[in-house]
Amino acid sequence: MTSTLFSELQSLLATHGQEHLLAHWDSLSPTHQDQLAKQIRRIDFGLLAKLRQTHDQPQKSSSSVTNAVAPPAVPIELCGTTRSQELRALGNQTLESGKVGMILVAGGQGTRLGFGHAKGLFPIGPISDRPLFQVLIDHLIAVRNRYHTAIPLFVMTSPATHEETVEFLAAHDRFGLPEDDLFLFCQGTMPVLDSRTGQILLEQRDRLCLSPDGHGGILEAFARTGCLAEAARRGIEHLFYAQIDNPLVQVCDPWLIGCHLQANSEMTTQVIRKQAPLERVGNVVSIDGRLQIIEYSDLSADSAHQTAPDGTLKLWAGNIGVHIFQRQFLERMAVSNDGLQFHQALKQTAYCDRQGRHVTPTQPNAIKFEKFIFDLLPAAQNAIVVEASRNTSFAPVKNADGEPKDTPAEAKQRMLDLYANWVAAAKIQMAENTQIEINPRFALDAQELASRIPPGHCFSGNVYLGPDRSFETSPAQGPAHPQ
Ligand code: UTP
Repeated sequence: MTSTLFSELQSLLATHGQEHLLAHWDSLSPTHQDQLAKQIRRIDFGLLAKLRQTHDQPQKSSSSVTNAVAPPAVPIELCGTTRSQELRALGNQTLESGKVGMILVAGGQGTRLGFGHAKGLFPIGPISDRPLFQVLIDHLIAVRNRYHTAIPLFVMTSPATHEETVEFLAAHDRFGLPEDDLFLFCQGTMPVLDSRTGQILLEQRDRLCLSPDGHGGILEAFARTGCLAEAARRGIEHLFYAQIDNPLVQVCDPWLIGCHLQANSEMTTQVIRKQAPLERVGNVVSIDGRLQIIEYSDLSADSAHQTAPDGTLKLWAGNIGVHIFQRQFLERMAVSNDGLQFHQALKQTAYCDRQGRHVTPTQPNAIKFEKFIFDLLPAAQNAIVVEASRNTSFAPVKNADGEPKDTPAEAKQRMLDLYANWVAAAKIQMAENTQIEINPRFALDAQELASRIPPGHCFSGNVYLGPDRSFETSPAQGPAHPQ
């Protein structure tokens, strides 16, 4: 029986030059042989061969990058004007009518952070130590409460994060989100190749080295797992999309939703002004009239340094991984032939060699294949870009503390800075050396904060304003109303 299976696999693999995957076959138990056989049968060898052929070709031709100009964008200055009140009201109505859902992508391996667990478990609350999952779910619950509406949350995991995420959220009662409103779905994977030989790497003797197929894997996984159909069944028309590694994301921001609706946009992208030409964020640009995103690694230093006549960066718009999709656009793209293409990245990946030894390389040694969700942008009708303030919207958690940028320490400081601004705007007193962390379920903004703290109150020390914290306020001060 085993030898028939072995022969079958051997002849399949020989056709594609991948027989080495059976190097440890004889030392495996029948269960592990079976497991390996299942993984091998699932490999799409045709796709891998095609992707290998395009290896070394630049993802975007340099001529198209040369034609890139800044995208037309809804400017941040509009926020706060009378016009913005109208757009915000439009967003408010849509939230209240229950037509908005949220997608959170949390399938990444978080290699750079080096945390050893799914990133969503990382403690980021500067005083509370709340993990990233809780910070984002608290924010969502605050929005749900403000608009008296159920906004279902669809969390994308990967085989690298699924089990741990399911257990963690269950152990914490989904941080208060009703069971009916939380959906976890797992994205697909791709084999990881040895960059020198093109051979598929083994992670263990009985297991292929597989990596999640990128945040763009959501297009296929959202449909395959029935989540897209569930969104339709619930009457969800717009999906707010965010990443697990940004604790400052303005969850389901009504102003952003209002801009999206008013433009009848199939895909709306929030951007910030880049701080430096080579900042490691995707560049949102317009090429021949179509919006698209050029990864920082695909943009030459010359293009990145170009300036506009006023001396500011020409390609200023940085992608922060916050989008809104019309549900029908995702439905159309999920069955479209011009769906998302794979990108290739050279990464450092541990593997099992032919002698069965575990090797941890010190240099990039492997090719990983990933799809990017933002590649949908050129296909979207009426796509728009909306500018946001970095200080209120973006605190990426990418690298471990000690690295120069995008670390947990930096993200925590950004959170504290934001809350200190709210405290100042609400005219609340803070003793020297006081730090305040505000849970959105206590206050979603400075206005709500002012309504919940009695005048003259002075905070000192390290203060965490959690959902259950209460203060006596005068009868004139009620809870804040949605703006
Ligand atoms: P990144 O591209 O920054 O990757 O993901 P990462 O996995 O967090 O970190 P590194 O590169 O291994 O260090 C941006 C967002 O996209 C999600 C991540 O979970 C994060 O929210 N993502 C990324 C997925 O959901 N699936 C993927 O396959 C890749």
